[in-house]
Amino acid sequence: MTALPPTPDFDFWPVDHAVHTLKIAEDALTITWTDGRTSQHHALLLRENSPDPVTTHPKAREMAIGPEDIPIDLHILDARRQASGAVLVSFSDGLQSEFHPGWLRGTAWFGHETPEPLVLWTAKDLPEPPTFDGRVALDDAETFLSWLEALRTYGVARLRGLPQEDGLLEKIVTRIGPVRESNFGRQYVLEIKDDPDSQAYTSGSLLQHIDLPTRELPFGLQFLYTRENTTTGGEGLYVDAYRLAEDMRSAEPDHFHSLVTDIWEYNNRARTSDYRGRGPVIETDQTGAITGVRFNTFLRAPMKAPLNVQARAYRAYRAFSVRAQSADYQMQIRYEPGDLLAFDNRRALHGRAGYEAKGGARFIEGIYADRDDLHSRIRTLKRHLRAARA
Ligand SMILES: [Fe+2]
Repeated sequence: MTALPPTPDFDFWPVDHAVHTLKIAEDALTITWTDGRTSQHHALLLRENSPDPVTTHPKAREMAIGPEDIPIDLHILDARRQASGAVLVSFSDGLQSEFHPGWLRGTAWFGHETPEPLVLWTAKDLPEPPTFDGRVALDDAETFLSWLEALRTYGVARLRGLPQEDGLLEKIVTRIGPVRESNFGRQYVLEIKDDPDSQAYTSGSLLQHIDLPTRELPFGLQFLYTRENTTTGGEGLYVDAYRLAEDMRSAEPDHFHSLVTDIWEYNNRARTSDYRGRGPVIETDQTGAITGVRFNTFLRAPMKAPLNVQARAYRAYRAFSVRAQSADYQMQIRYEPGDLLAFDNRRALHGRAGYEAKGGARFIEGIYADRDDLHSRIRTLKRHLRAARA
């Protein structure tokens, strides 16, 4: 069998279905596949995604032409299936190009696709984070991927039993993507400071919150690597804010409306920085799906809004907070040495029980990154694993 043509990307496109018949209409190609499904491909879409080296940069695999380089009345003159399974398309501007059948199938429209579902949870549903053997995950790409997928799905996932090693946290995080630095540094250490610029650096309890709501885009991921913990108390308290928000959507619609509409401001309180971020407590997309939360009581600034908005916003914020502080929603975990807890900072609220600092030591390292890096690494790991199996 002759080789299949390249695709305008670096992705792996499995050929699970073959092209059965081809039909040309005025400005589109219709493919009937061997499983009976049909797909339609607009001439302009095919033309600008042609893998030929003029249209697609042969090294960067990015589009190398603009819309104005294609005749406005472009149409398809001919399409035929090749022995390799590829489709050879002749365009009215003189270009003949072969298209990979896996790419044609994988990029086709078959109706609205539901994204991989997130699993929302309460304390009862998920008493412990999904946990993977840290030493195995470091050596085995499938286990590492399972950890990342659990993080995406549940918003919290743990590696356990990692060795104690300086620099290991950064080494693991950079296997996912770049570290996102903050005003707390490239890596921070949760320990007691004499002059704390955050309540995180005390032994007191911490209310449920996300970190850095003071940023235009709050950090997407947080990683906590426990090096030492012989103190009593100080459990981590995690809440799936998406579960909480969905419960409010159905049980408290007025409060929910305020939480997705009314804008709160957050500012950090430090002597050498003055970050300010603003947004609703619950962020939604154009379909109403929840995409993030911006909730942090101790960094919240006075609301600048008409009195009636202040009144409803305070009531709604309080109702959200009451749920966040409720044991029904709070997963309670102890940080053991060798644990690496990863969580979605824009989904999983976190808090801390107070701890007794005397007579024990507690040393937890932390690093931030972003969701995009997680999603990109999941895709590339899957691509490599699929290609290796093919
Ligand atoms: Fe925090």
